[in-house]
Amino acid sequence: MGRTGFPFRPGQVEFVPVTRLVHVSDLHFGRPAVADRLEGLRELIGKLDPDAVAVSGDLTQRCSNSEFRMARQYLDSIGETAPYLVIPGNHDIRWLGSVVRNLGFAGMLQRQAHNFKYSRYTRHISEELSPSLEVPGAVIAGLNTAHGITRGSITRRFKDLGVIGYVRHADIQTVREAFENAHPDAARIVMIHHNPIEGATSGRHGLSNTEQALQAFADLGAEIILCGHDHQEAVHTVERGVRGIVISTAGTISNRLRPGRTSSFNLVDIDEQNLHITPYSWQNPEGFTPSEGKSFPRRTATRTA
Ligand SMILES: [Fe+2]
Ligand SMILES: [Fe+2]
Repeated sequence: MGRTGFPFRPGQVEFVPVTRLVHVSDLHFGRPAVADRLEGLRELIGKLDPDAVAVSGDLTQRCSNSEFRMARQYLDSIGETAPYLVIPGNHDIRWLGSVVRNLGFAGMLQRQAHNFKYSRYTRHISEELSPSLEVPGAVIAGLNTAHGITRGSITRRFKDLGVIGYVRHADIQTVREAFENAHPDAARIVMIHHNPIEGATSGRHGLSNTEQALQAFADLGAEIILCGHDHQEAVHTVERGVRGIVISTAGTISNRLRPGRTSSFNLVDIDEQNLHITPYSWQNPEGFTPSEGKSFPRRTATRTA
């Protein structure tokens, strides 16, 4: 099925965007997963005809093999429609590995602990924790922010231990390389799991080093950050340097919902002049339904990366 233009601009001349991304997050296979919402999303992806599907982490609830098998099967079915890019979330790593690694054992043990921490994700989903994908008009650089309990993610909020994310300096370099290897006119997009903007209901930042991360992404010429983790959809802009960044926070497809919220995902359309983000929320019996979107002029200032 072909593209149908922007759902929030009825009556206007149909517009075919240059690049279309479906941004989903926090599928949480396991008890929180809801079969009809997953099926509804899969069907809608076929109709929306995106250039890529971006999945910003928390595939599982308990990081179990069975949950990862379900996630793998689902991603495979998505992949029949469009290429996808996926990164792990904090629910997708094994806690013991991060604790052992943080205790500071040297050499092999650190490496083994690191491998253990991500072992189920790498076995079932991908060996690559910070992958990138280029499609016509855009490059998406995935950056793993889920490290469990590490020095970088230490926080004063005890219940956030192991939940909060962290952007490592080495991974920023990976993003830089992905951007530099892409077409010079490609929209530069970073995908992380943890939300860099405080959640409206949760009141929580997902990242422990938000300011440094946002500045680094701005310096690399990122136009959009895709994230999840907060389980509440949102669209923000932040000003950094000469370029602002648009932040797409996708809600969750699962039933792990904030009070009064429903399952949701974001549609991201990019043309030469503008970015458009349209949240889709789950309604009964209609299924995923678009709500009013937001448009932003693209920043075409000289890139610094
Ligand atoms: Fe989540
Ligand atoms: Fe999360």
